[in-house]
Amino acid sequence: MSTITEVKQRTDIVEIISDYVPLQKAGRNFKALCPFHSEKHPSFFVFPEQQTWHCFGACGTGGDVFSFVMKKEGIDFGQVLRLLAQRAGVTLSSAEVSGGAEDKKKERLFQINEAATEYFHHLLLSTKAGEAARNYLSKRKIALETIKEFRLGFSPNSWDALKKFLISKEYEEQELIETGLIIEKQGGNSYDRFRNRLMFPICDVQSRVVGFGARALDESLPKYVNSPQTAIFDKSSSLYGINKAKSAIKQKNLVIIVEGYMDVLTAHQHGWQNVVASMGTSVTERQVAIAKSLTKSIALALDADAAGEEATLRSAEVSARSLDKAEVKAILMPQGKDPDEVISEDLALWQSLVEKALPVLDFAFETVISKVDINKAKDKSLAVQKLLPLVCEIKDPIQQSHYIRKLAHTLKVSESAITATLRKSQAEQRRQRLTKAVEQPRFTRQLVSSPIEEYCLALLLQYPELRQVAQGLSAEHFESIENREIFTQWQYSQNTSELREKLDANLLEHLNYLMNKPILDKNGKEQRAFSDCILSLQERLSKRLEAGRELMFNFTREKEGVNAELAKLDEQGISSSEQLREVFTKRGKLARKEVR
Ligand code: UTP
Ligand code: MN
Repeated sequence: MSTITEVKQRTDIVEIISDYVPLQKAGRNFKALCPFHSEKHPSFFVFPEQQTWHCFGACGTGGDVFSFVMKKEGIDFGQVLRLLAQRAGVTLSSAEVSGGAEDKKKERLFQINEAATEYFHHLLLSTKAGEAARNYLSKRKIALETIKEFRLGFSPNSWDALKKFLISKEYEEQELIETGLIIEKQGGNSYDRFRNRLMFPICDVQSRVVGFGARALDESLPKYVNSPQTAIFDKSSSLYGINKAKSAIKQKNLVIIVEGYMDVLTAHQHGWQNVVASMGTSVTERQVAIAKSLTKSIALALDADAAGEEATLRSAEVSARSLDKAEVKAILMPQGKDPDEVISEDLALWQSLVEKALPVLDFAFETVISKVDINKAKDKSLAVQKLLPLVCEIKDPIQQSHYIRKLAHTLKVSESAITATLRKSQAEQRRQRLTKAVEQPRFTRQLVSSPIEEYCLALLLQYPELRQVAQGLSAEHFESIENREIFTQWQYSQNTSELREKLDANLLEHLNYLMNKPILDKNGKEQRAFSDCILSLQERLSKRLEAGRELMFNFTREKEGVNAELAKLDEQGISSSEQLREVFTKRGKLARKEVR
């Protein structure tokens, strides 16, 4: 199996996309406000069965999980492959990792970050300019040993000190900009991003410096400046301190995730080396995935104020989904204190808070229930409404029934009422699925390969003269990323050897396969076969759009009370699905006409 196929099989598009946009269930699919353009009503859909996404609104575009991440992060195919492979636990062979020009470039970015780390570290420890930062750290009770261990640094109060230093080391200005250390000004000039700040190098598991966090030395704002997203840095899939924490995490079989850089320093300094930081955001699925690769036992330190409902419910949902694979607990901080303060003021208290950690799900229950009056019927429904979706996510039936019982008990309602509500919402989903099976043309897409796409590309690659008649074809016609990427690069190449150079090493196997694929329509029939392929691909795309518009229309109607209509029709003894189908197809056609 090719690496790409393996990554695809082990990756769930719904899980990945929901890291970026909140997805709402829509029958068997999911919908959201499109993350690529601004809109008021959701026209962005994710189809779990086909593992595809589509925006039926202004973008009118779609693809698979690779193309989504490429578009959203603005990174290329090779980078996405590495990201998703790492997340899915698929190891790329060393040739795949260090092969292309892309990787040489990344290697340079790591080198630059390394040089900057040394530069900042030296300034902090051994220069007059670093004195204020040294004083700041001693005021915060950070020991010299910790400073060295984490290679903290100081960025001087200058617009170009770092830039000059790195240029003197023969790095190009363009590369410096790509690390995020230098900011490009409009009109050409560029300047240092981090000035007069305490520097925290952020490393990956292998201790390579991927980016920086930088704290002001006083109360000035912003408190922290971080590296932007780069080819080697993605804040939401990094954990600060992971390189220093990994062996302790394995040894103690527990990882504690805190929010801040300072929390990590203090924790390690006091013997809690299994602590890492999410760097301000509520924990993402990608961060949980990194943690899960080291231990099955995760604890989130939630501070009392930030343990606001939304954030807690979000972490609880992430944890409910992986309940059969890992245990996620919540450590509740005392009001107004973060782990840094608790640990340095009262280590015993910290120890007991860790011991008292509750499963995040129980914690979510407490947070929600503490905010309602369980003697009021309306509040009971509200609490159920918030917590039932979490319970729904639990795959393990024993654990699920445990939480159903708990919910019933706390709200003083019967277990059967909760189960009934759960069943009702599940039944509702099933009913929607059933009616939709009749109303929508079913998508038929094989996950692993797409014969028409492949045949079309094989023709194009094996018969260069077909390029003249390929204007009708666009990248959008290819849903499978391997095909889309090869087609896109083909557009920019004169011939196949140029194409080979442009392609990511991981795609060469697929390219060879296409170049050797037997062509049945030979002897002058190639052009005809090629036009047929384009037509089929075009037709498939139109069908998708059509189905999507019906889907959208469907949900708008639902909001307007389609259920009431269904009931009315039922009363009149008319087969509802027949009637509705008529309405939908008519409206669907109308909508299509308007769009054209
Ligand atoms: P905190 O405000 O709790 O900072 O933000 P802290 O780490 O406790 O720092 P001190 O103790 O006030 O010095 C928690 C984390 O959120 C991110 C940083 O990763 C920070 O460590 N953050 C916060 C930012 O990225 N930018 C900000 O402006 C603020
Ligand atoms: Mn703090």
